[in-house]
Amino acid sequence: MKQDSTKKTARPRIRITDTTLRDAHQSLWATRLRTDDILAIAEKIDNAGYYSLECWGGATFDVCMRFLRENPWERLRQIKAVCKKTPLQMLLRGQNLLGYKHYPDDVVERFVALACENGMDIFRVFDALNDPRNLEKAIASVKKYGGHAQGTISYTTSPVHTVAAYVKLAKEQVAMGIDSLAIKDMAGILTPGAARELISSLVKELPDMPIQVHSHMTSGMAAAMYLAAVESGAGCVDCAISTMSSFSSQPPCESIVTILESEGYDTGLDQAKLAEINAYFRELKKTRQPLSTQKVEAVDAGVLVHAIPGGMISNLRSQLAQQDALDRLPEVLAELPKTRADMGYPPLVTPTSQIVGVQSVLNVLSGKRYSMVTDETKHYAAGYYGRTPAPIDKKLQKKLMGDLKPITCRPADLLKPGLATAAAEIPSKLIQKEEDILSYCLFPEVALGYFKWRAQPADQRDPIPADLEQQAAPEAAAPAAPVADAEERRLADIGALVVELFGKIGVSAGSVAPVKRTETPAPASAPAPEKKEDAAPTGPTINAPFNGTFYRSDGPGKPQIAKEGDQVAKGAPLCIVEAMKMFNPIHADKALTVVKFLVEHGKTVQKGQPLVEVQYV
Ligand code: CO
Repeated sequence: MKQDSTKKTARPRIRITDTTLRDAHQSLWATRLRTDDILAIAEKIDNAGYYSLECWGGATFDVCMRFLRENPWERLRQIKAVCKKTPLQMLLRGQNLLGYKHYPDDVVERFVALACENGMDIFRVFDALNDPRNLEKAIASVKKYGGHAQGTISYTTSPVHTVAAYVKLAKEQVAMGIDSLAIKDMAGILTPGAARELISSLVKELPDMPIQVHSHMTSGMAAAMYLAAVESGAGCVDCAISTMSSFSSQPPCESIVTILESEGYDTGLDQAKLAEINAYFRELKKTRQPLSTQKVEAVDAGVLVHAIPGGMISNLRSQLAQQDALDRLPEVLAELPKTRADMGYPPLVTPTSQIVGVQSVLNVLSGKRYSMVTDETKHYAAGYYGRTPAPIDKKLQKKLMGDLKPITCRPADLLKPGLATAAAEIPSKLIQKEEDILSYCLFPEVALGYFKWRAQPADQRDPIPADLEQQAAPEAAAPAAPVADAEERRLADIGALVVELFGKIGVSAGSVAPVKRTETPAPASAPAPEKKEDAAPTGPTINAPFNGTFYRSDGPGKPQIAKEGDQVAKGAPLCIVEAMKMFNPIHADKALTVVKFLVEHGKTVQKGQPLVEVQYV
């Protein structure tokens, strides 16, 4: 493209990070790009002239083991062996690493050390709540092991998310030693005007800090926003090769290069090389794009109105469908901003998007706001996820926390070191390298499943789950939006993991009251089989508040929460109804004696179905 030479010399080079190998296929193909797919094009991508290649982190780590039966560490090593010119980049969820809960500091440090050792260069470190305390260990570890630490502003809008607040957050991360700063617009809600205002202030206050912008095309604004961002002083933007771009992915690289060149910026990228790379993905799309992700709206204009990320709406839709309450969606969409405001305006990104989303659904379906509170909301309100952007109203906080005591310390300070314990939990014959212990720390069950699969002779292994999906008939595929698959999976994990995490915190931290249990000592074995299903109650009962799955304990091998004959205080948990992928404890509404459980552990229950017969004391 012909350029105005005066403009060209006057304007700086703008660099582009390619997200094709991470965010793009996570957003569009449910993270199903395989290592072989990547290696077949890696050299061309390495030679294209990108600033960096985002190729690891986010959901890729989990999906590698769970669905593709690949070792994510091996993927990193293999990419590094080919891509020798362009720095590799990853997305790291601060103290959550690549999982959905806080990990102990020793796990965070060792994970980062091994990532560096295996070839990772740039770490984009973010936190859902923008709580700097959740970033500090990861950033310090990146610096310690020689990586490039990129701090992050998780962008959202609210009365407390002012430019001044974002500048303060940036300065806090500069003080931690970050090498650059990313503005992460995960929902695609950053307007060109707001980008201009935010970036101009950041440049003014932190003139030496390189600024990179990350967005999604969900609402259709990102390309225009990138230009505004660059004109305001951002030096790098995230794009994906056109076939892997747009919809809920990043803006198309080829188009952004052309836009920038037309304004006199030089990107250092060669369109001919980009075309070759794109031809590869256009072909690959025929076999790799999961059927479930093929019906996507080009632009979700709703985001412009309600600022609720598209993936989140498809989750709300499926949660409501499970409750036969799809007609309540408009009420839930109206409730969600109120719940978010009550909870201190968290940015809507994993895991806060799930916490706020499910709580909003409960607020609508239960008929009385916060009469049902998930365990996640409870812990969120007590500070276990970090400091909320705005304080929660004291009275409401008390109601949400229930019997939990609030914490004000850095949440990870409550966690005991985790590496040695994890190492001891894995059968030693399944461990090949230290990295396996880290994989296990992040995703215990998924990693064990993968290790066992890997340990079998190649001809005796089960088929790869992703291959089975690809063969599935179109009608069998979930009609969900692309983000929904990854989100669904996260949701499936989060319920179990959060329960697991907070169970552990309750034990390890002296100051924190564990969830109150009955006085009866817990049986060591799995829940005893129930006598009869649907036995007719003769007295008062506690009923299922919604459709779901009934559990007597909060995990395999965990003790029963309450037993027949137990006398419990008002508010004590009796059992669990799992719905919307969250474990919702069912509490005693008054002081009572448990007479009889009426449903078998693990059975589905309908809203209003009696779960337990009780006698009030
Ligand atoms: Co993204």
